[in-house]
Amino acid sequence: MGYDAKFRVWRGDADDGDLQDFTVPVNEGEVVLDIIHRLQATQAPDLAVRWNCKAGKCGSCSAEVNGRPKLLCMTRMSTFTEDEVITVTPMRTFPVIRDLVTDVSFNYAKAREVQAFTPPEGLAPGEYRMKQVDVQRSQEFRKCIECFLCQDTCHVVRDHEENKQAFAGPRFLMRVAELDMHPLDMAERRDSAQYEHGLGLCNITKCCTEVCPEHIKITDNALIPMKERVADRHYDPLVWLGNKLFRR
Ligand code: SF4
Ligand code: F3S
Ligand code: FES
Repeated sequence: MGYDAKFRVWRGDADDGDLQDFTVPVNEGEVVLDIIHRLQATQAPDLAVRWNCKAGKCGSCSAEVNGRPKLLCMTRMSTFTEDEVITVTPMRTFPVIRDLVTDVSFNYAKAREVQAFTPPEGLAPGEYRMKQVDVQRSQEFRKCIECFLCQDTCHVVRDHEENKQAFAGPRFLMRVAELDMHPLDMAERRDSAQYEHGLGLCNITKCCTEVCPEHIKITDNALIPMKERVADRHYDPLVWLGNKLFRR
């Protein structure tokens, strides 16, 4: 059965903005993005929202619903009561362009800072051989749709603009961990994780894991194992001695 929902949507740009109230019809089975589209079609034709697949796979429609990072296309209206006011705001960690659309270029800059997969010299594509267990280990991380909800929610940067330069965020620390686990990757990842990508700033609050729409165990399967490998490198007396004698 349909009903009229109360929506509060942030409207504005980089300079100014505020929350505006709307009453919008809702039909059975709809998601928040359907309601935002109905708002555009009927009351706010210039409302800016980014979306593409409507299937939770392109990572475009990231925003915040009642203050929680969400994909708008995967947030069912049935999870709210009919008399609840539903507040939709842009991702807080990134600069607003307009309305619900943010500038996520921070993430692309961080992606570029991660050294690409570096196979052994002389091994051509097609000659790579690795065990199935190593292939499977990275499959979980490759489900990432780059929605950047984990980047949005992590407290290290959410309210601390000053940390952005030093911290790659969970999505890209996960990428570093994935490459470090790869048996054919020859690049130095552990010092760079710690000193260039800011792994030490993560204090494993697991908020990133909680919001990931792909249910990737970012903290348990990528960040904590990476921290352990960094700690081994720096605090294992044998590793320390090896580093002294055979510094690479
Ligand atoms: Fe989104 Fe999850 Fe990828 Fe983070 S790890 S960008 S939350 S899919
Ligand atoms: Fe941030 Fe996730 Fe670590 S939320 S603090 S990157 S566990
Ligand atoms: Fe593609 Fe929501 S529109 S994930």
